[in-house]
Amino acid sequence: MFEGLLVDLVPYGKDFLDRENEWANAEASFWGSGGDRRVVSRAQTQARLQRWAEALESGHDTGVAFGIRAKDGTPLGFMGLTWVLPYHRLAMLGAKIGDPAYWSGGYGTDALLLVIDYAFDWLDMHKLWLTTTGFNRRVMRQMEKVGFTLESRARRETLADGQWHDGLFYGLLRTEWPGRDAKIEQLGLRVRAEG
Ligand SMILES: CC(C)(COP(=O)(O)OP(=O)(O)OC[C@H]1O[C@@H](n2cnc3c(N)ncnc32)[C@H](O)[C@@H]1OP(=O)(O)O)[C@@H](O)C(=O)NCCC(=O)NCCS
Repeated sequence: MFEGLLVDLVPYGKDFLDRENEWANAEASFWGSGGDRRVVSRAQTQARLQRWAEALESGHDTGVAFGIRAKDGTPLGFMGLTWVLPYHRLAMLGAKIGDPAYWSGGYGTDALLLVIDYAFDWLDMHKLWLTTTGFNRRVMRQMEKVGFTLESRARRETLADGQWHDGLFYGLLRTEWPGRDAKIEQLGLRVRAEG
């Protein structure tokens, strides 16, 4: 377990998997997918989780999945490295907090700082990256806070409520990362968490 200020990162176990279907049909999925308001049955979610487990077992999925857990034990969502390439020491980040009541309160950034330290210090990654859509202001602000660089913009990639949006690609090099403690100080997160 990795202990943060507002959340802990824990294994993505039953408490989280049991909520996958609820989260797959919630607003979080719209934002995570860049605008797709799909409806997903329990059977479809079960089948997807089964495929995921098999891919991890066979080594086709090289990701690392953590559960974001609030300090009171509430399972909040997923934080992970969804595609780890050991040769290039490159990994893609992914995150989802299921309940909008927990958005914009610093929980996602607390989890992100933990996983960045894990990726650089434990997995010896050289670079982390992620993609989002041009209307996801929460992620854009998060990237700015944490120090990612907007590296490229793919034009008109996702369709959300009838509007096309660009895909944004962000990257963070290990040489640019001051470490979690320094970032917490820089952003004043300890004071904010206690306040
Ligand atoms: C993305 C996600 C994990 C981020 O976690 P979070 O806890 O909401 O993030 P934080 O609160 O740490 O940071 C969000 C920042 O965006 C800011 N923000 C919120 N709405 C905003 C807006 N419309 N414009 C600009 N900034 C905004 C918040 O105020 C906060 O900044 P601050 O700390 O300076 O106040 C979470 O919002 C989530 O799961 N969203 C739905 C799924 C999703 O979008 N997944 C990512 C796909 S790439």
